Amino acid sequence: MVRIEKVHYKPVPVRSLLLEMKDLSELMIDLAYSAALFHDQKLAEEVLEERMPTRRWIDEARRDYYRRRAREEGYRSRAAYKLLEAQKRFKLLRRGDIVVDLGAWPGGMSQAAARIVGPEGLVVAVDTRDFERFSEENIVTLQLDILEDDVVSEVLRVLDGKRADALISDASPRFTGVRDVDMIRQYELSLKAYEIARSLLRRGGSLMVKAFDCDEVRGLEREMRREFEFVKRFIPRAKRKTSSEFYFIALRKIS
Ligand SMILES: C[S@@+](CC[C@H](N)C(=O)[O-])C[C@H]1O[C@@H](n2cnc3c(N)ncnc32)[C@H](O)[C@@H]1O
Repeated sequence: MVRIEKVHYKPVPVRSLLLEMKDLSELMIDLAYSAALFHDQKLAEEVLEERMPTRRWIDEARRDYYRRRAREEGYRSRAAYKLLEAQKRFKLLRRGDIVVDLGAWPGGMSQAAARIVGPEGLVVAVDTRDFERFSEENIVTLQLDILEDDVVSEVLRVLDGKRADALISDASPRFTGVRDVDMIRQYELSLKAYEIARSLLRRGGSLMVKAFDCDEVRGLEREMRREFEFVKRFIPRAKRKTSSEFYFIALRKIS
């Protein structure tokens, strides 16, 4: 007589198995990357977002994906894609524009801006850190601390007194992990960038400033609405999902 044994199946922990499979993550990033190369950004995002099991995972995949694109497309950092996405949505920059980029090191956004404004335009990249030489001839660098130095005079000197068409600020502090401290430091930089923009931007000029949400930032937003015809909060796809950063996009400076 054949004895039939009762078989007990243990449920397979699919989720945790998937999380541990490094190859799978590589495969997903490859898929997303191929989709992007075929100009299907939506599919790339879907692959990265919807098929990925955890937030941390999405973050890592997303960072790898943009890092890889940046390497391939000759940008120094994935921050370039934040500006490119904003440009696509809001048309911040035009060919021939003068752009001031604060907190610009290592320079991905400056490179993206330089490609948009072309050889007849100019990008002034400012950071406390020393830049590696750019091959783009329309990028000028200034090593300055925006909280301490007279950035307005220094930039105006480079521009022979001309005002800028756009100002970008991606300046952010070295984070301590203490939320209140990081918030206030980021706020100081956002506020300073805004004050510099008020002095440097021509009438009709545009602004993109990194910020974190807090009470003070809401005050800054109200102030911006008095100075610009259009103000919107923008969260780029290339940002980490877990960070609460966003950018103010302000268009058409009134005076
Ligand atoms: C997120 S990184 C910028 C990345 C850059 N936008 C890119 O495209 O590669 C933030 C930068 O802000 C700069 N920064 C922070 N505080 C600053 C200050 N007080 N003055 C000038 N730059 C500052 C840092 O040195 C750092 O390079």
